[in-house]
Amino acid sequence: MTSILLVTSSPRGPEGLSTRFATEIAEGLKVRLGGTLLTRDLTVNPPPHIAQAYIGGRVAAPEARTPEQAKAVGLAQELVDEVKAADVIVLGSGMINFGPSSQLKAWFDHITWPGVTFGYSAAGKPQGLLTGKKVYLVTAAGGVFSEGDWAAFDFQTGYLRHLLGFIGLTDVEVVRVEGTVFGPEAAKAAIAAAEVQVRAVLEQAA
Ligand SMILES: Cc1cc2nc3c(=O)[nH]c(=O)nc-3n(C[C@H](O)[C@H](O)[C@H](O)COP(=O)(O)O)c2cc1C
Repeated sequence: MTSILLVTSSPRGPEGLSTRFATEIAEGLKVRLGGTLLTRDLTVNPPPHIAQAYIGGRVAAPEARTPEQAKAVGLAQELVDEVKAADVIVLGSGMINFGPSSQLKAWFDHITWPGVTFGYSAAGKPQGLLTGKKVYLVTAAGGVFSEGDWAAFDFQTGYLRHLLGFIGLTDVEVVRVEGTVFGPEAAKAAIAAAEVQVRAVLEQAA
């Protein structure tokens, strides 16, 4: 049985293209592979910015944590457990000011946890601990970042790939929805191109 985790993070609500296509992939995979689908919508229920209670609580012994620390670490544990339980993770991210939304950044700040999701080898090399999972990453952006002049300013897809890889999630397939701000025709073409990518992903997974 396949456990699928869908994580969405577009602050644009139902208009979010990353949410739309990530949801299509997750639901399509469920139909094809069977199993379960858990959705974590980071905009309906956003994790807070990490703060002292979380940083301090993470290194304190569980029995020594203050109630505030226990609450902060408890949320991180819940988010990590969801990722750990998943065989497949579908992540939707819409570009906000050249990077992912702050909701998605906050999620990564909770799940990127030394000793839990990453460690270091004896030689000091970072080692991701969440291995053996497949990730589909849907990134949406108004501009075009896969190539051309703006590729150097894509602090979304490359950054997210890096963060995923850092915690062991190295098998990542990217679907890009891009170039939606250049008028209705360009937006239509961008959506059509994303639909083709989503179909290919689902056909491959079947
Ligand atoms: C507050 C805000 C900031 C944005 N910043 C950028 C940006 O820096 N670069 C860009 O190409 N598009 C930017 N956009 C356009 C979005 O990336 C685009 O609408 C994309 O589809 C958002 O993903 P979503 O559809 O999943 O919400 C921005 C949109 C909003 C609302």
